[in-house]
Amino acid sequence: MKKHLLSAADLSRDDAELVLATAEELRSLADRPIKKLPALRGRTVVNLFFEDSTRTRISFEAAAKRLSADVINFSAKGSSLSKGESLKDTALTLEAMGADAVVVRHWASGAPHLLAHAGWARSSVVNAGDGTHEHPTQALLDAFTMTRHLGSLDGRRVAIVGDVLHSRVARSNALLLTTLGAEVTLVAPPTLLPYGVEGWGVETSYDLDAVLPKADVLMMLRVQRERMNAAFFPSVREYSRRYGVDARRMATLQDHTIVMHPGPMIRGMEISADVADSERSVIVEQVTNGVAVRMAVLYLLLGGSQPAIGGDDA
Ligand code: NCD
Repeated sequence: MKKHLLSAADLSRDDAELVLATAEELRSLADRPIKKLPALRGRTVVNLFFEDSTRTRISFEAAAKRLSADVINFSAKGSSLSKGESLKDTALTLEAMGADAVVVRHWASGAPHLLAHAGWARSSVVNAGDGTHEHPTQALLDAFTMTRHLGSLDGRRVAIVGDVLHSRVARSNALLLTTLGAEVTLVAPPTLLPYGVEGWGVETSYDLDAVLPKADVLMMLRVQRERMNAAFFPSVREYSRRYGVDARRMATLQDHTIVMHPGPMIRGMEISADVADSERSVIVEQVTNGVAVRMAVLYLLLGGSQPAIGGDDA
């Protein structure tokens, strides 16, 4: 693995498989009464969040704590300084605190890259979501969840549906899943597909009903209204009718097909409540798996050379 995890493109197939295998080992901890390992004792992980987040921040916090790292949570939402200055000053502070890893979420695409490469700090940087750009640990936890249900992803068909334009989850998943051999189809109205998507190495479609019967995985995306500055579709009703999944559409899936959503969901818009709560839905599992995957990432980035689980009680 490289020193930083900024993009899903940083991961070779071997790297990604190592993260997934390490996460599989670490996941067994969740079933033990004592959910803690000494692997990162004495190391400091800083969660630097410039944008609202509940599940991702808590997930990284739980991951770092389960590996016995010291965790500092730094919420810097709404800073009035210009982006470059505020990030530089923050980086110097982190350096002074002796951070070994910085987990950063930022509303600006590219902020984690700046933090990693401007030479302000020595820590490893993990991108926990930057603007509309990338969210590599979400893609890893999604791939992990898929693998647990389907085995190898080689040749598996994954449909990613909805607001692809504003989705860092879609971009990171497209990169990682193709690395792992899956065939990705992005399904969205033309207004919500990004410019240049032809270069992503994936299929695209405007027709959800045509894609559903072939999919092994159906991944629904939230419609990110907070990032929209124009009308991208006529109405919520029209959006749901064409791109939402409800019980009728779910019935056209193959028996083994799983339904995913990174959260937060807008029930009734991109996904109906009965689909979200159905047996096919692995949405709660994605959250559980997120902790194991983030443990694996922190462990591997911070130079874990010993097996993550070992010693007396393993
Ligand atoms: C996603 C995000 O923040 O990019 N959520 C998450 O990480 N749990 C997706 C979203 O906000 O819709």
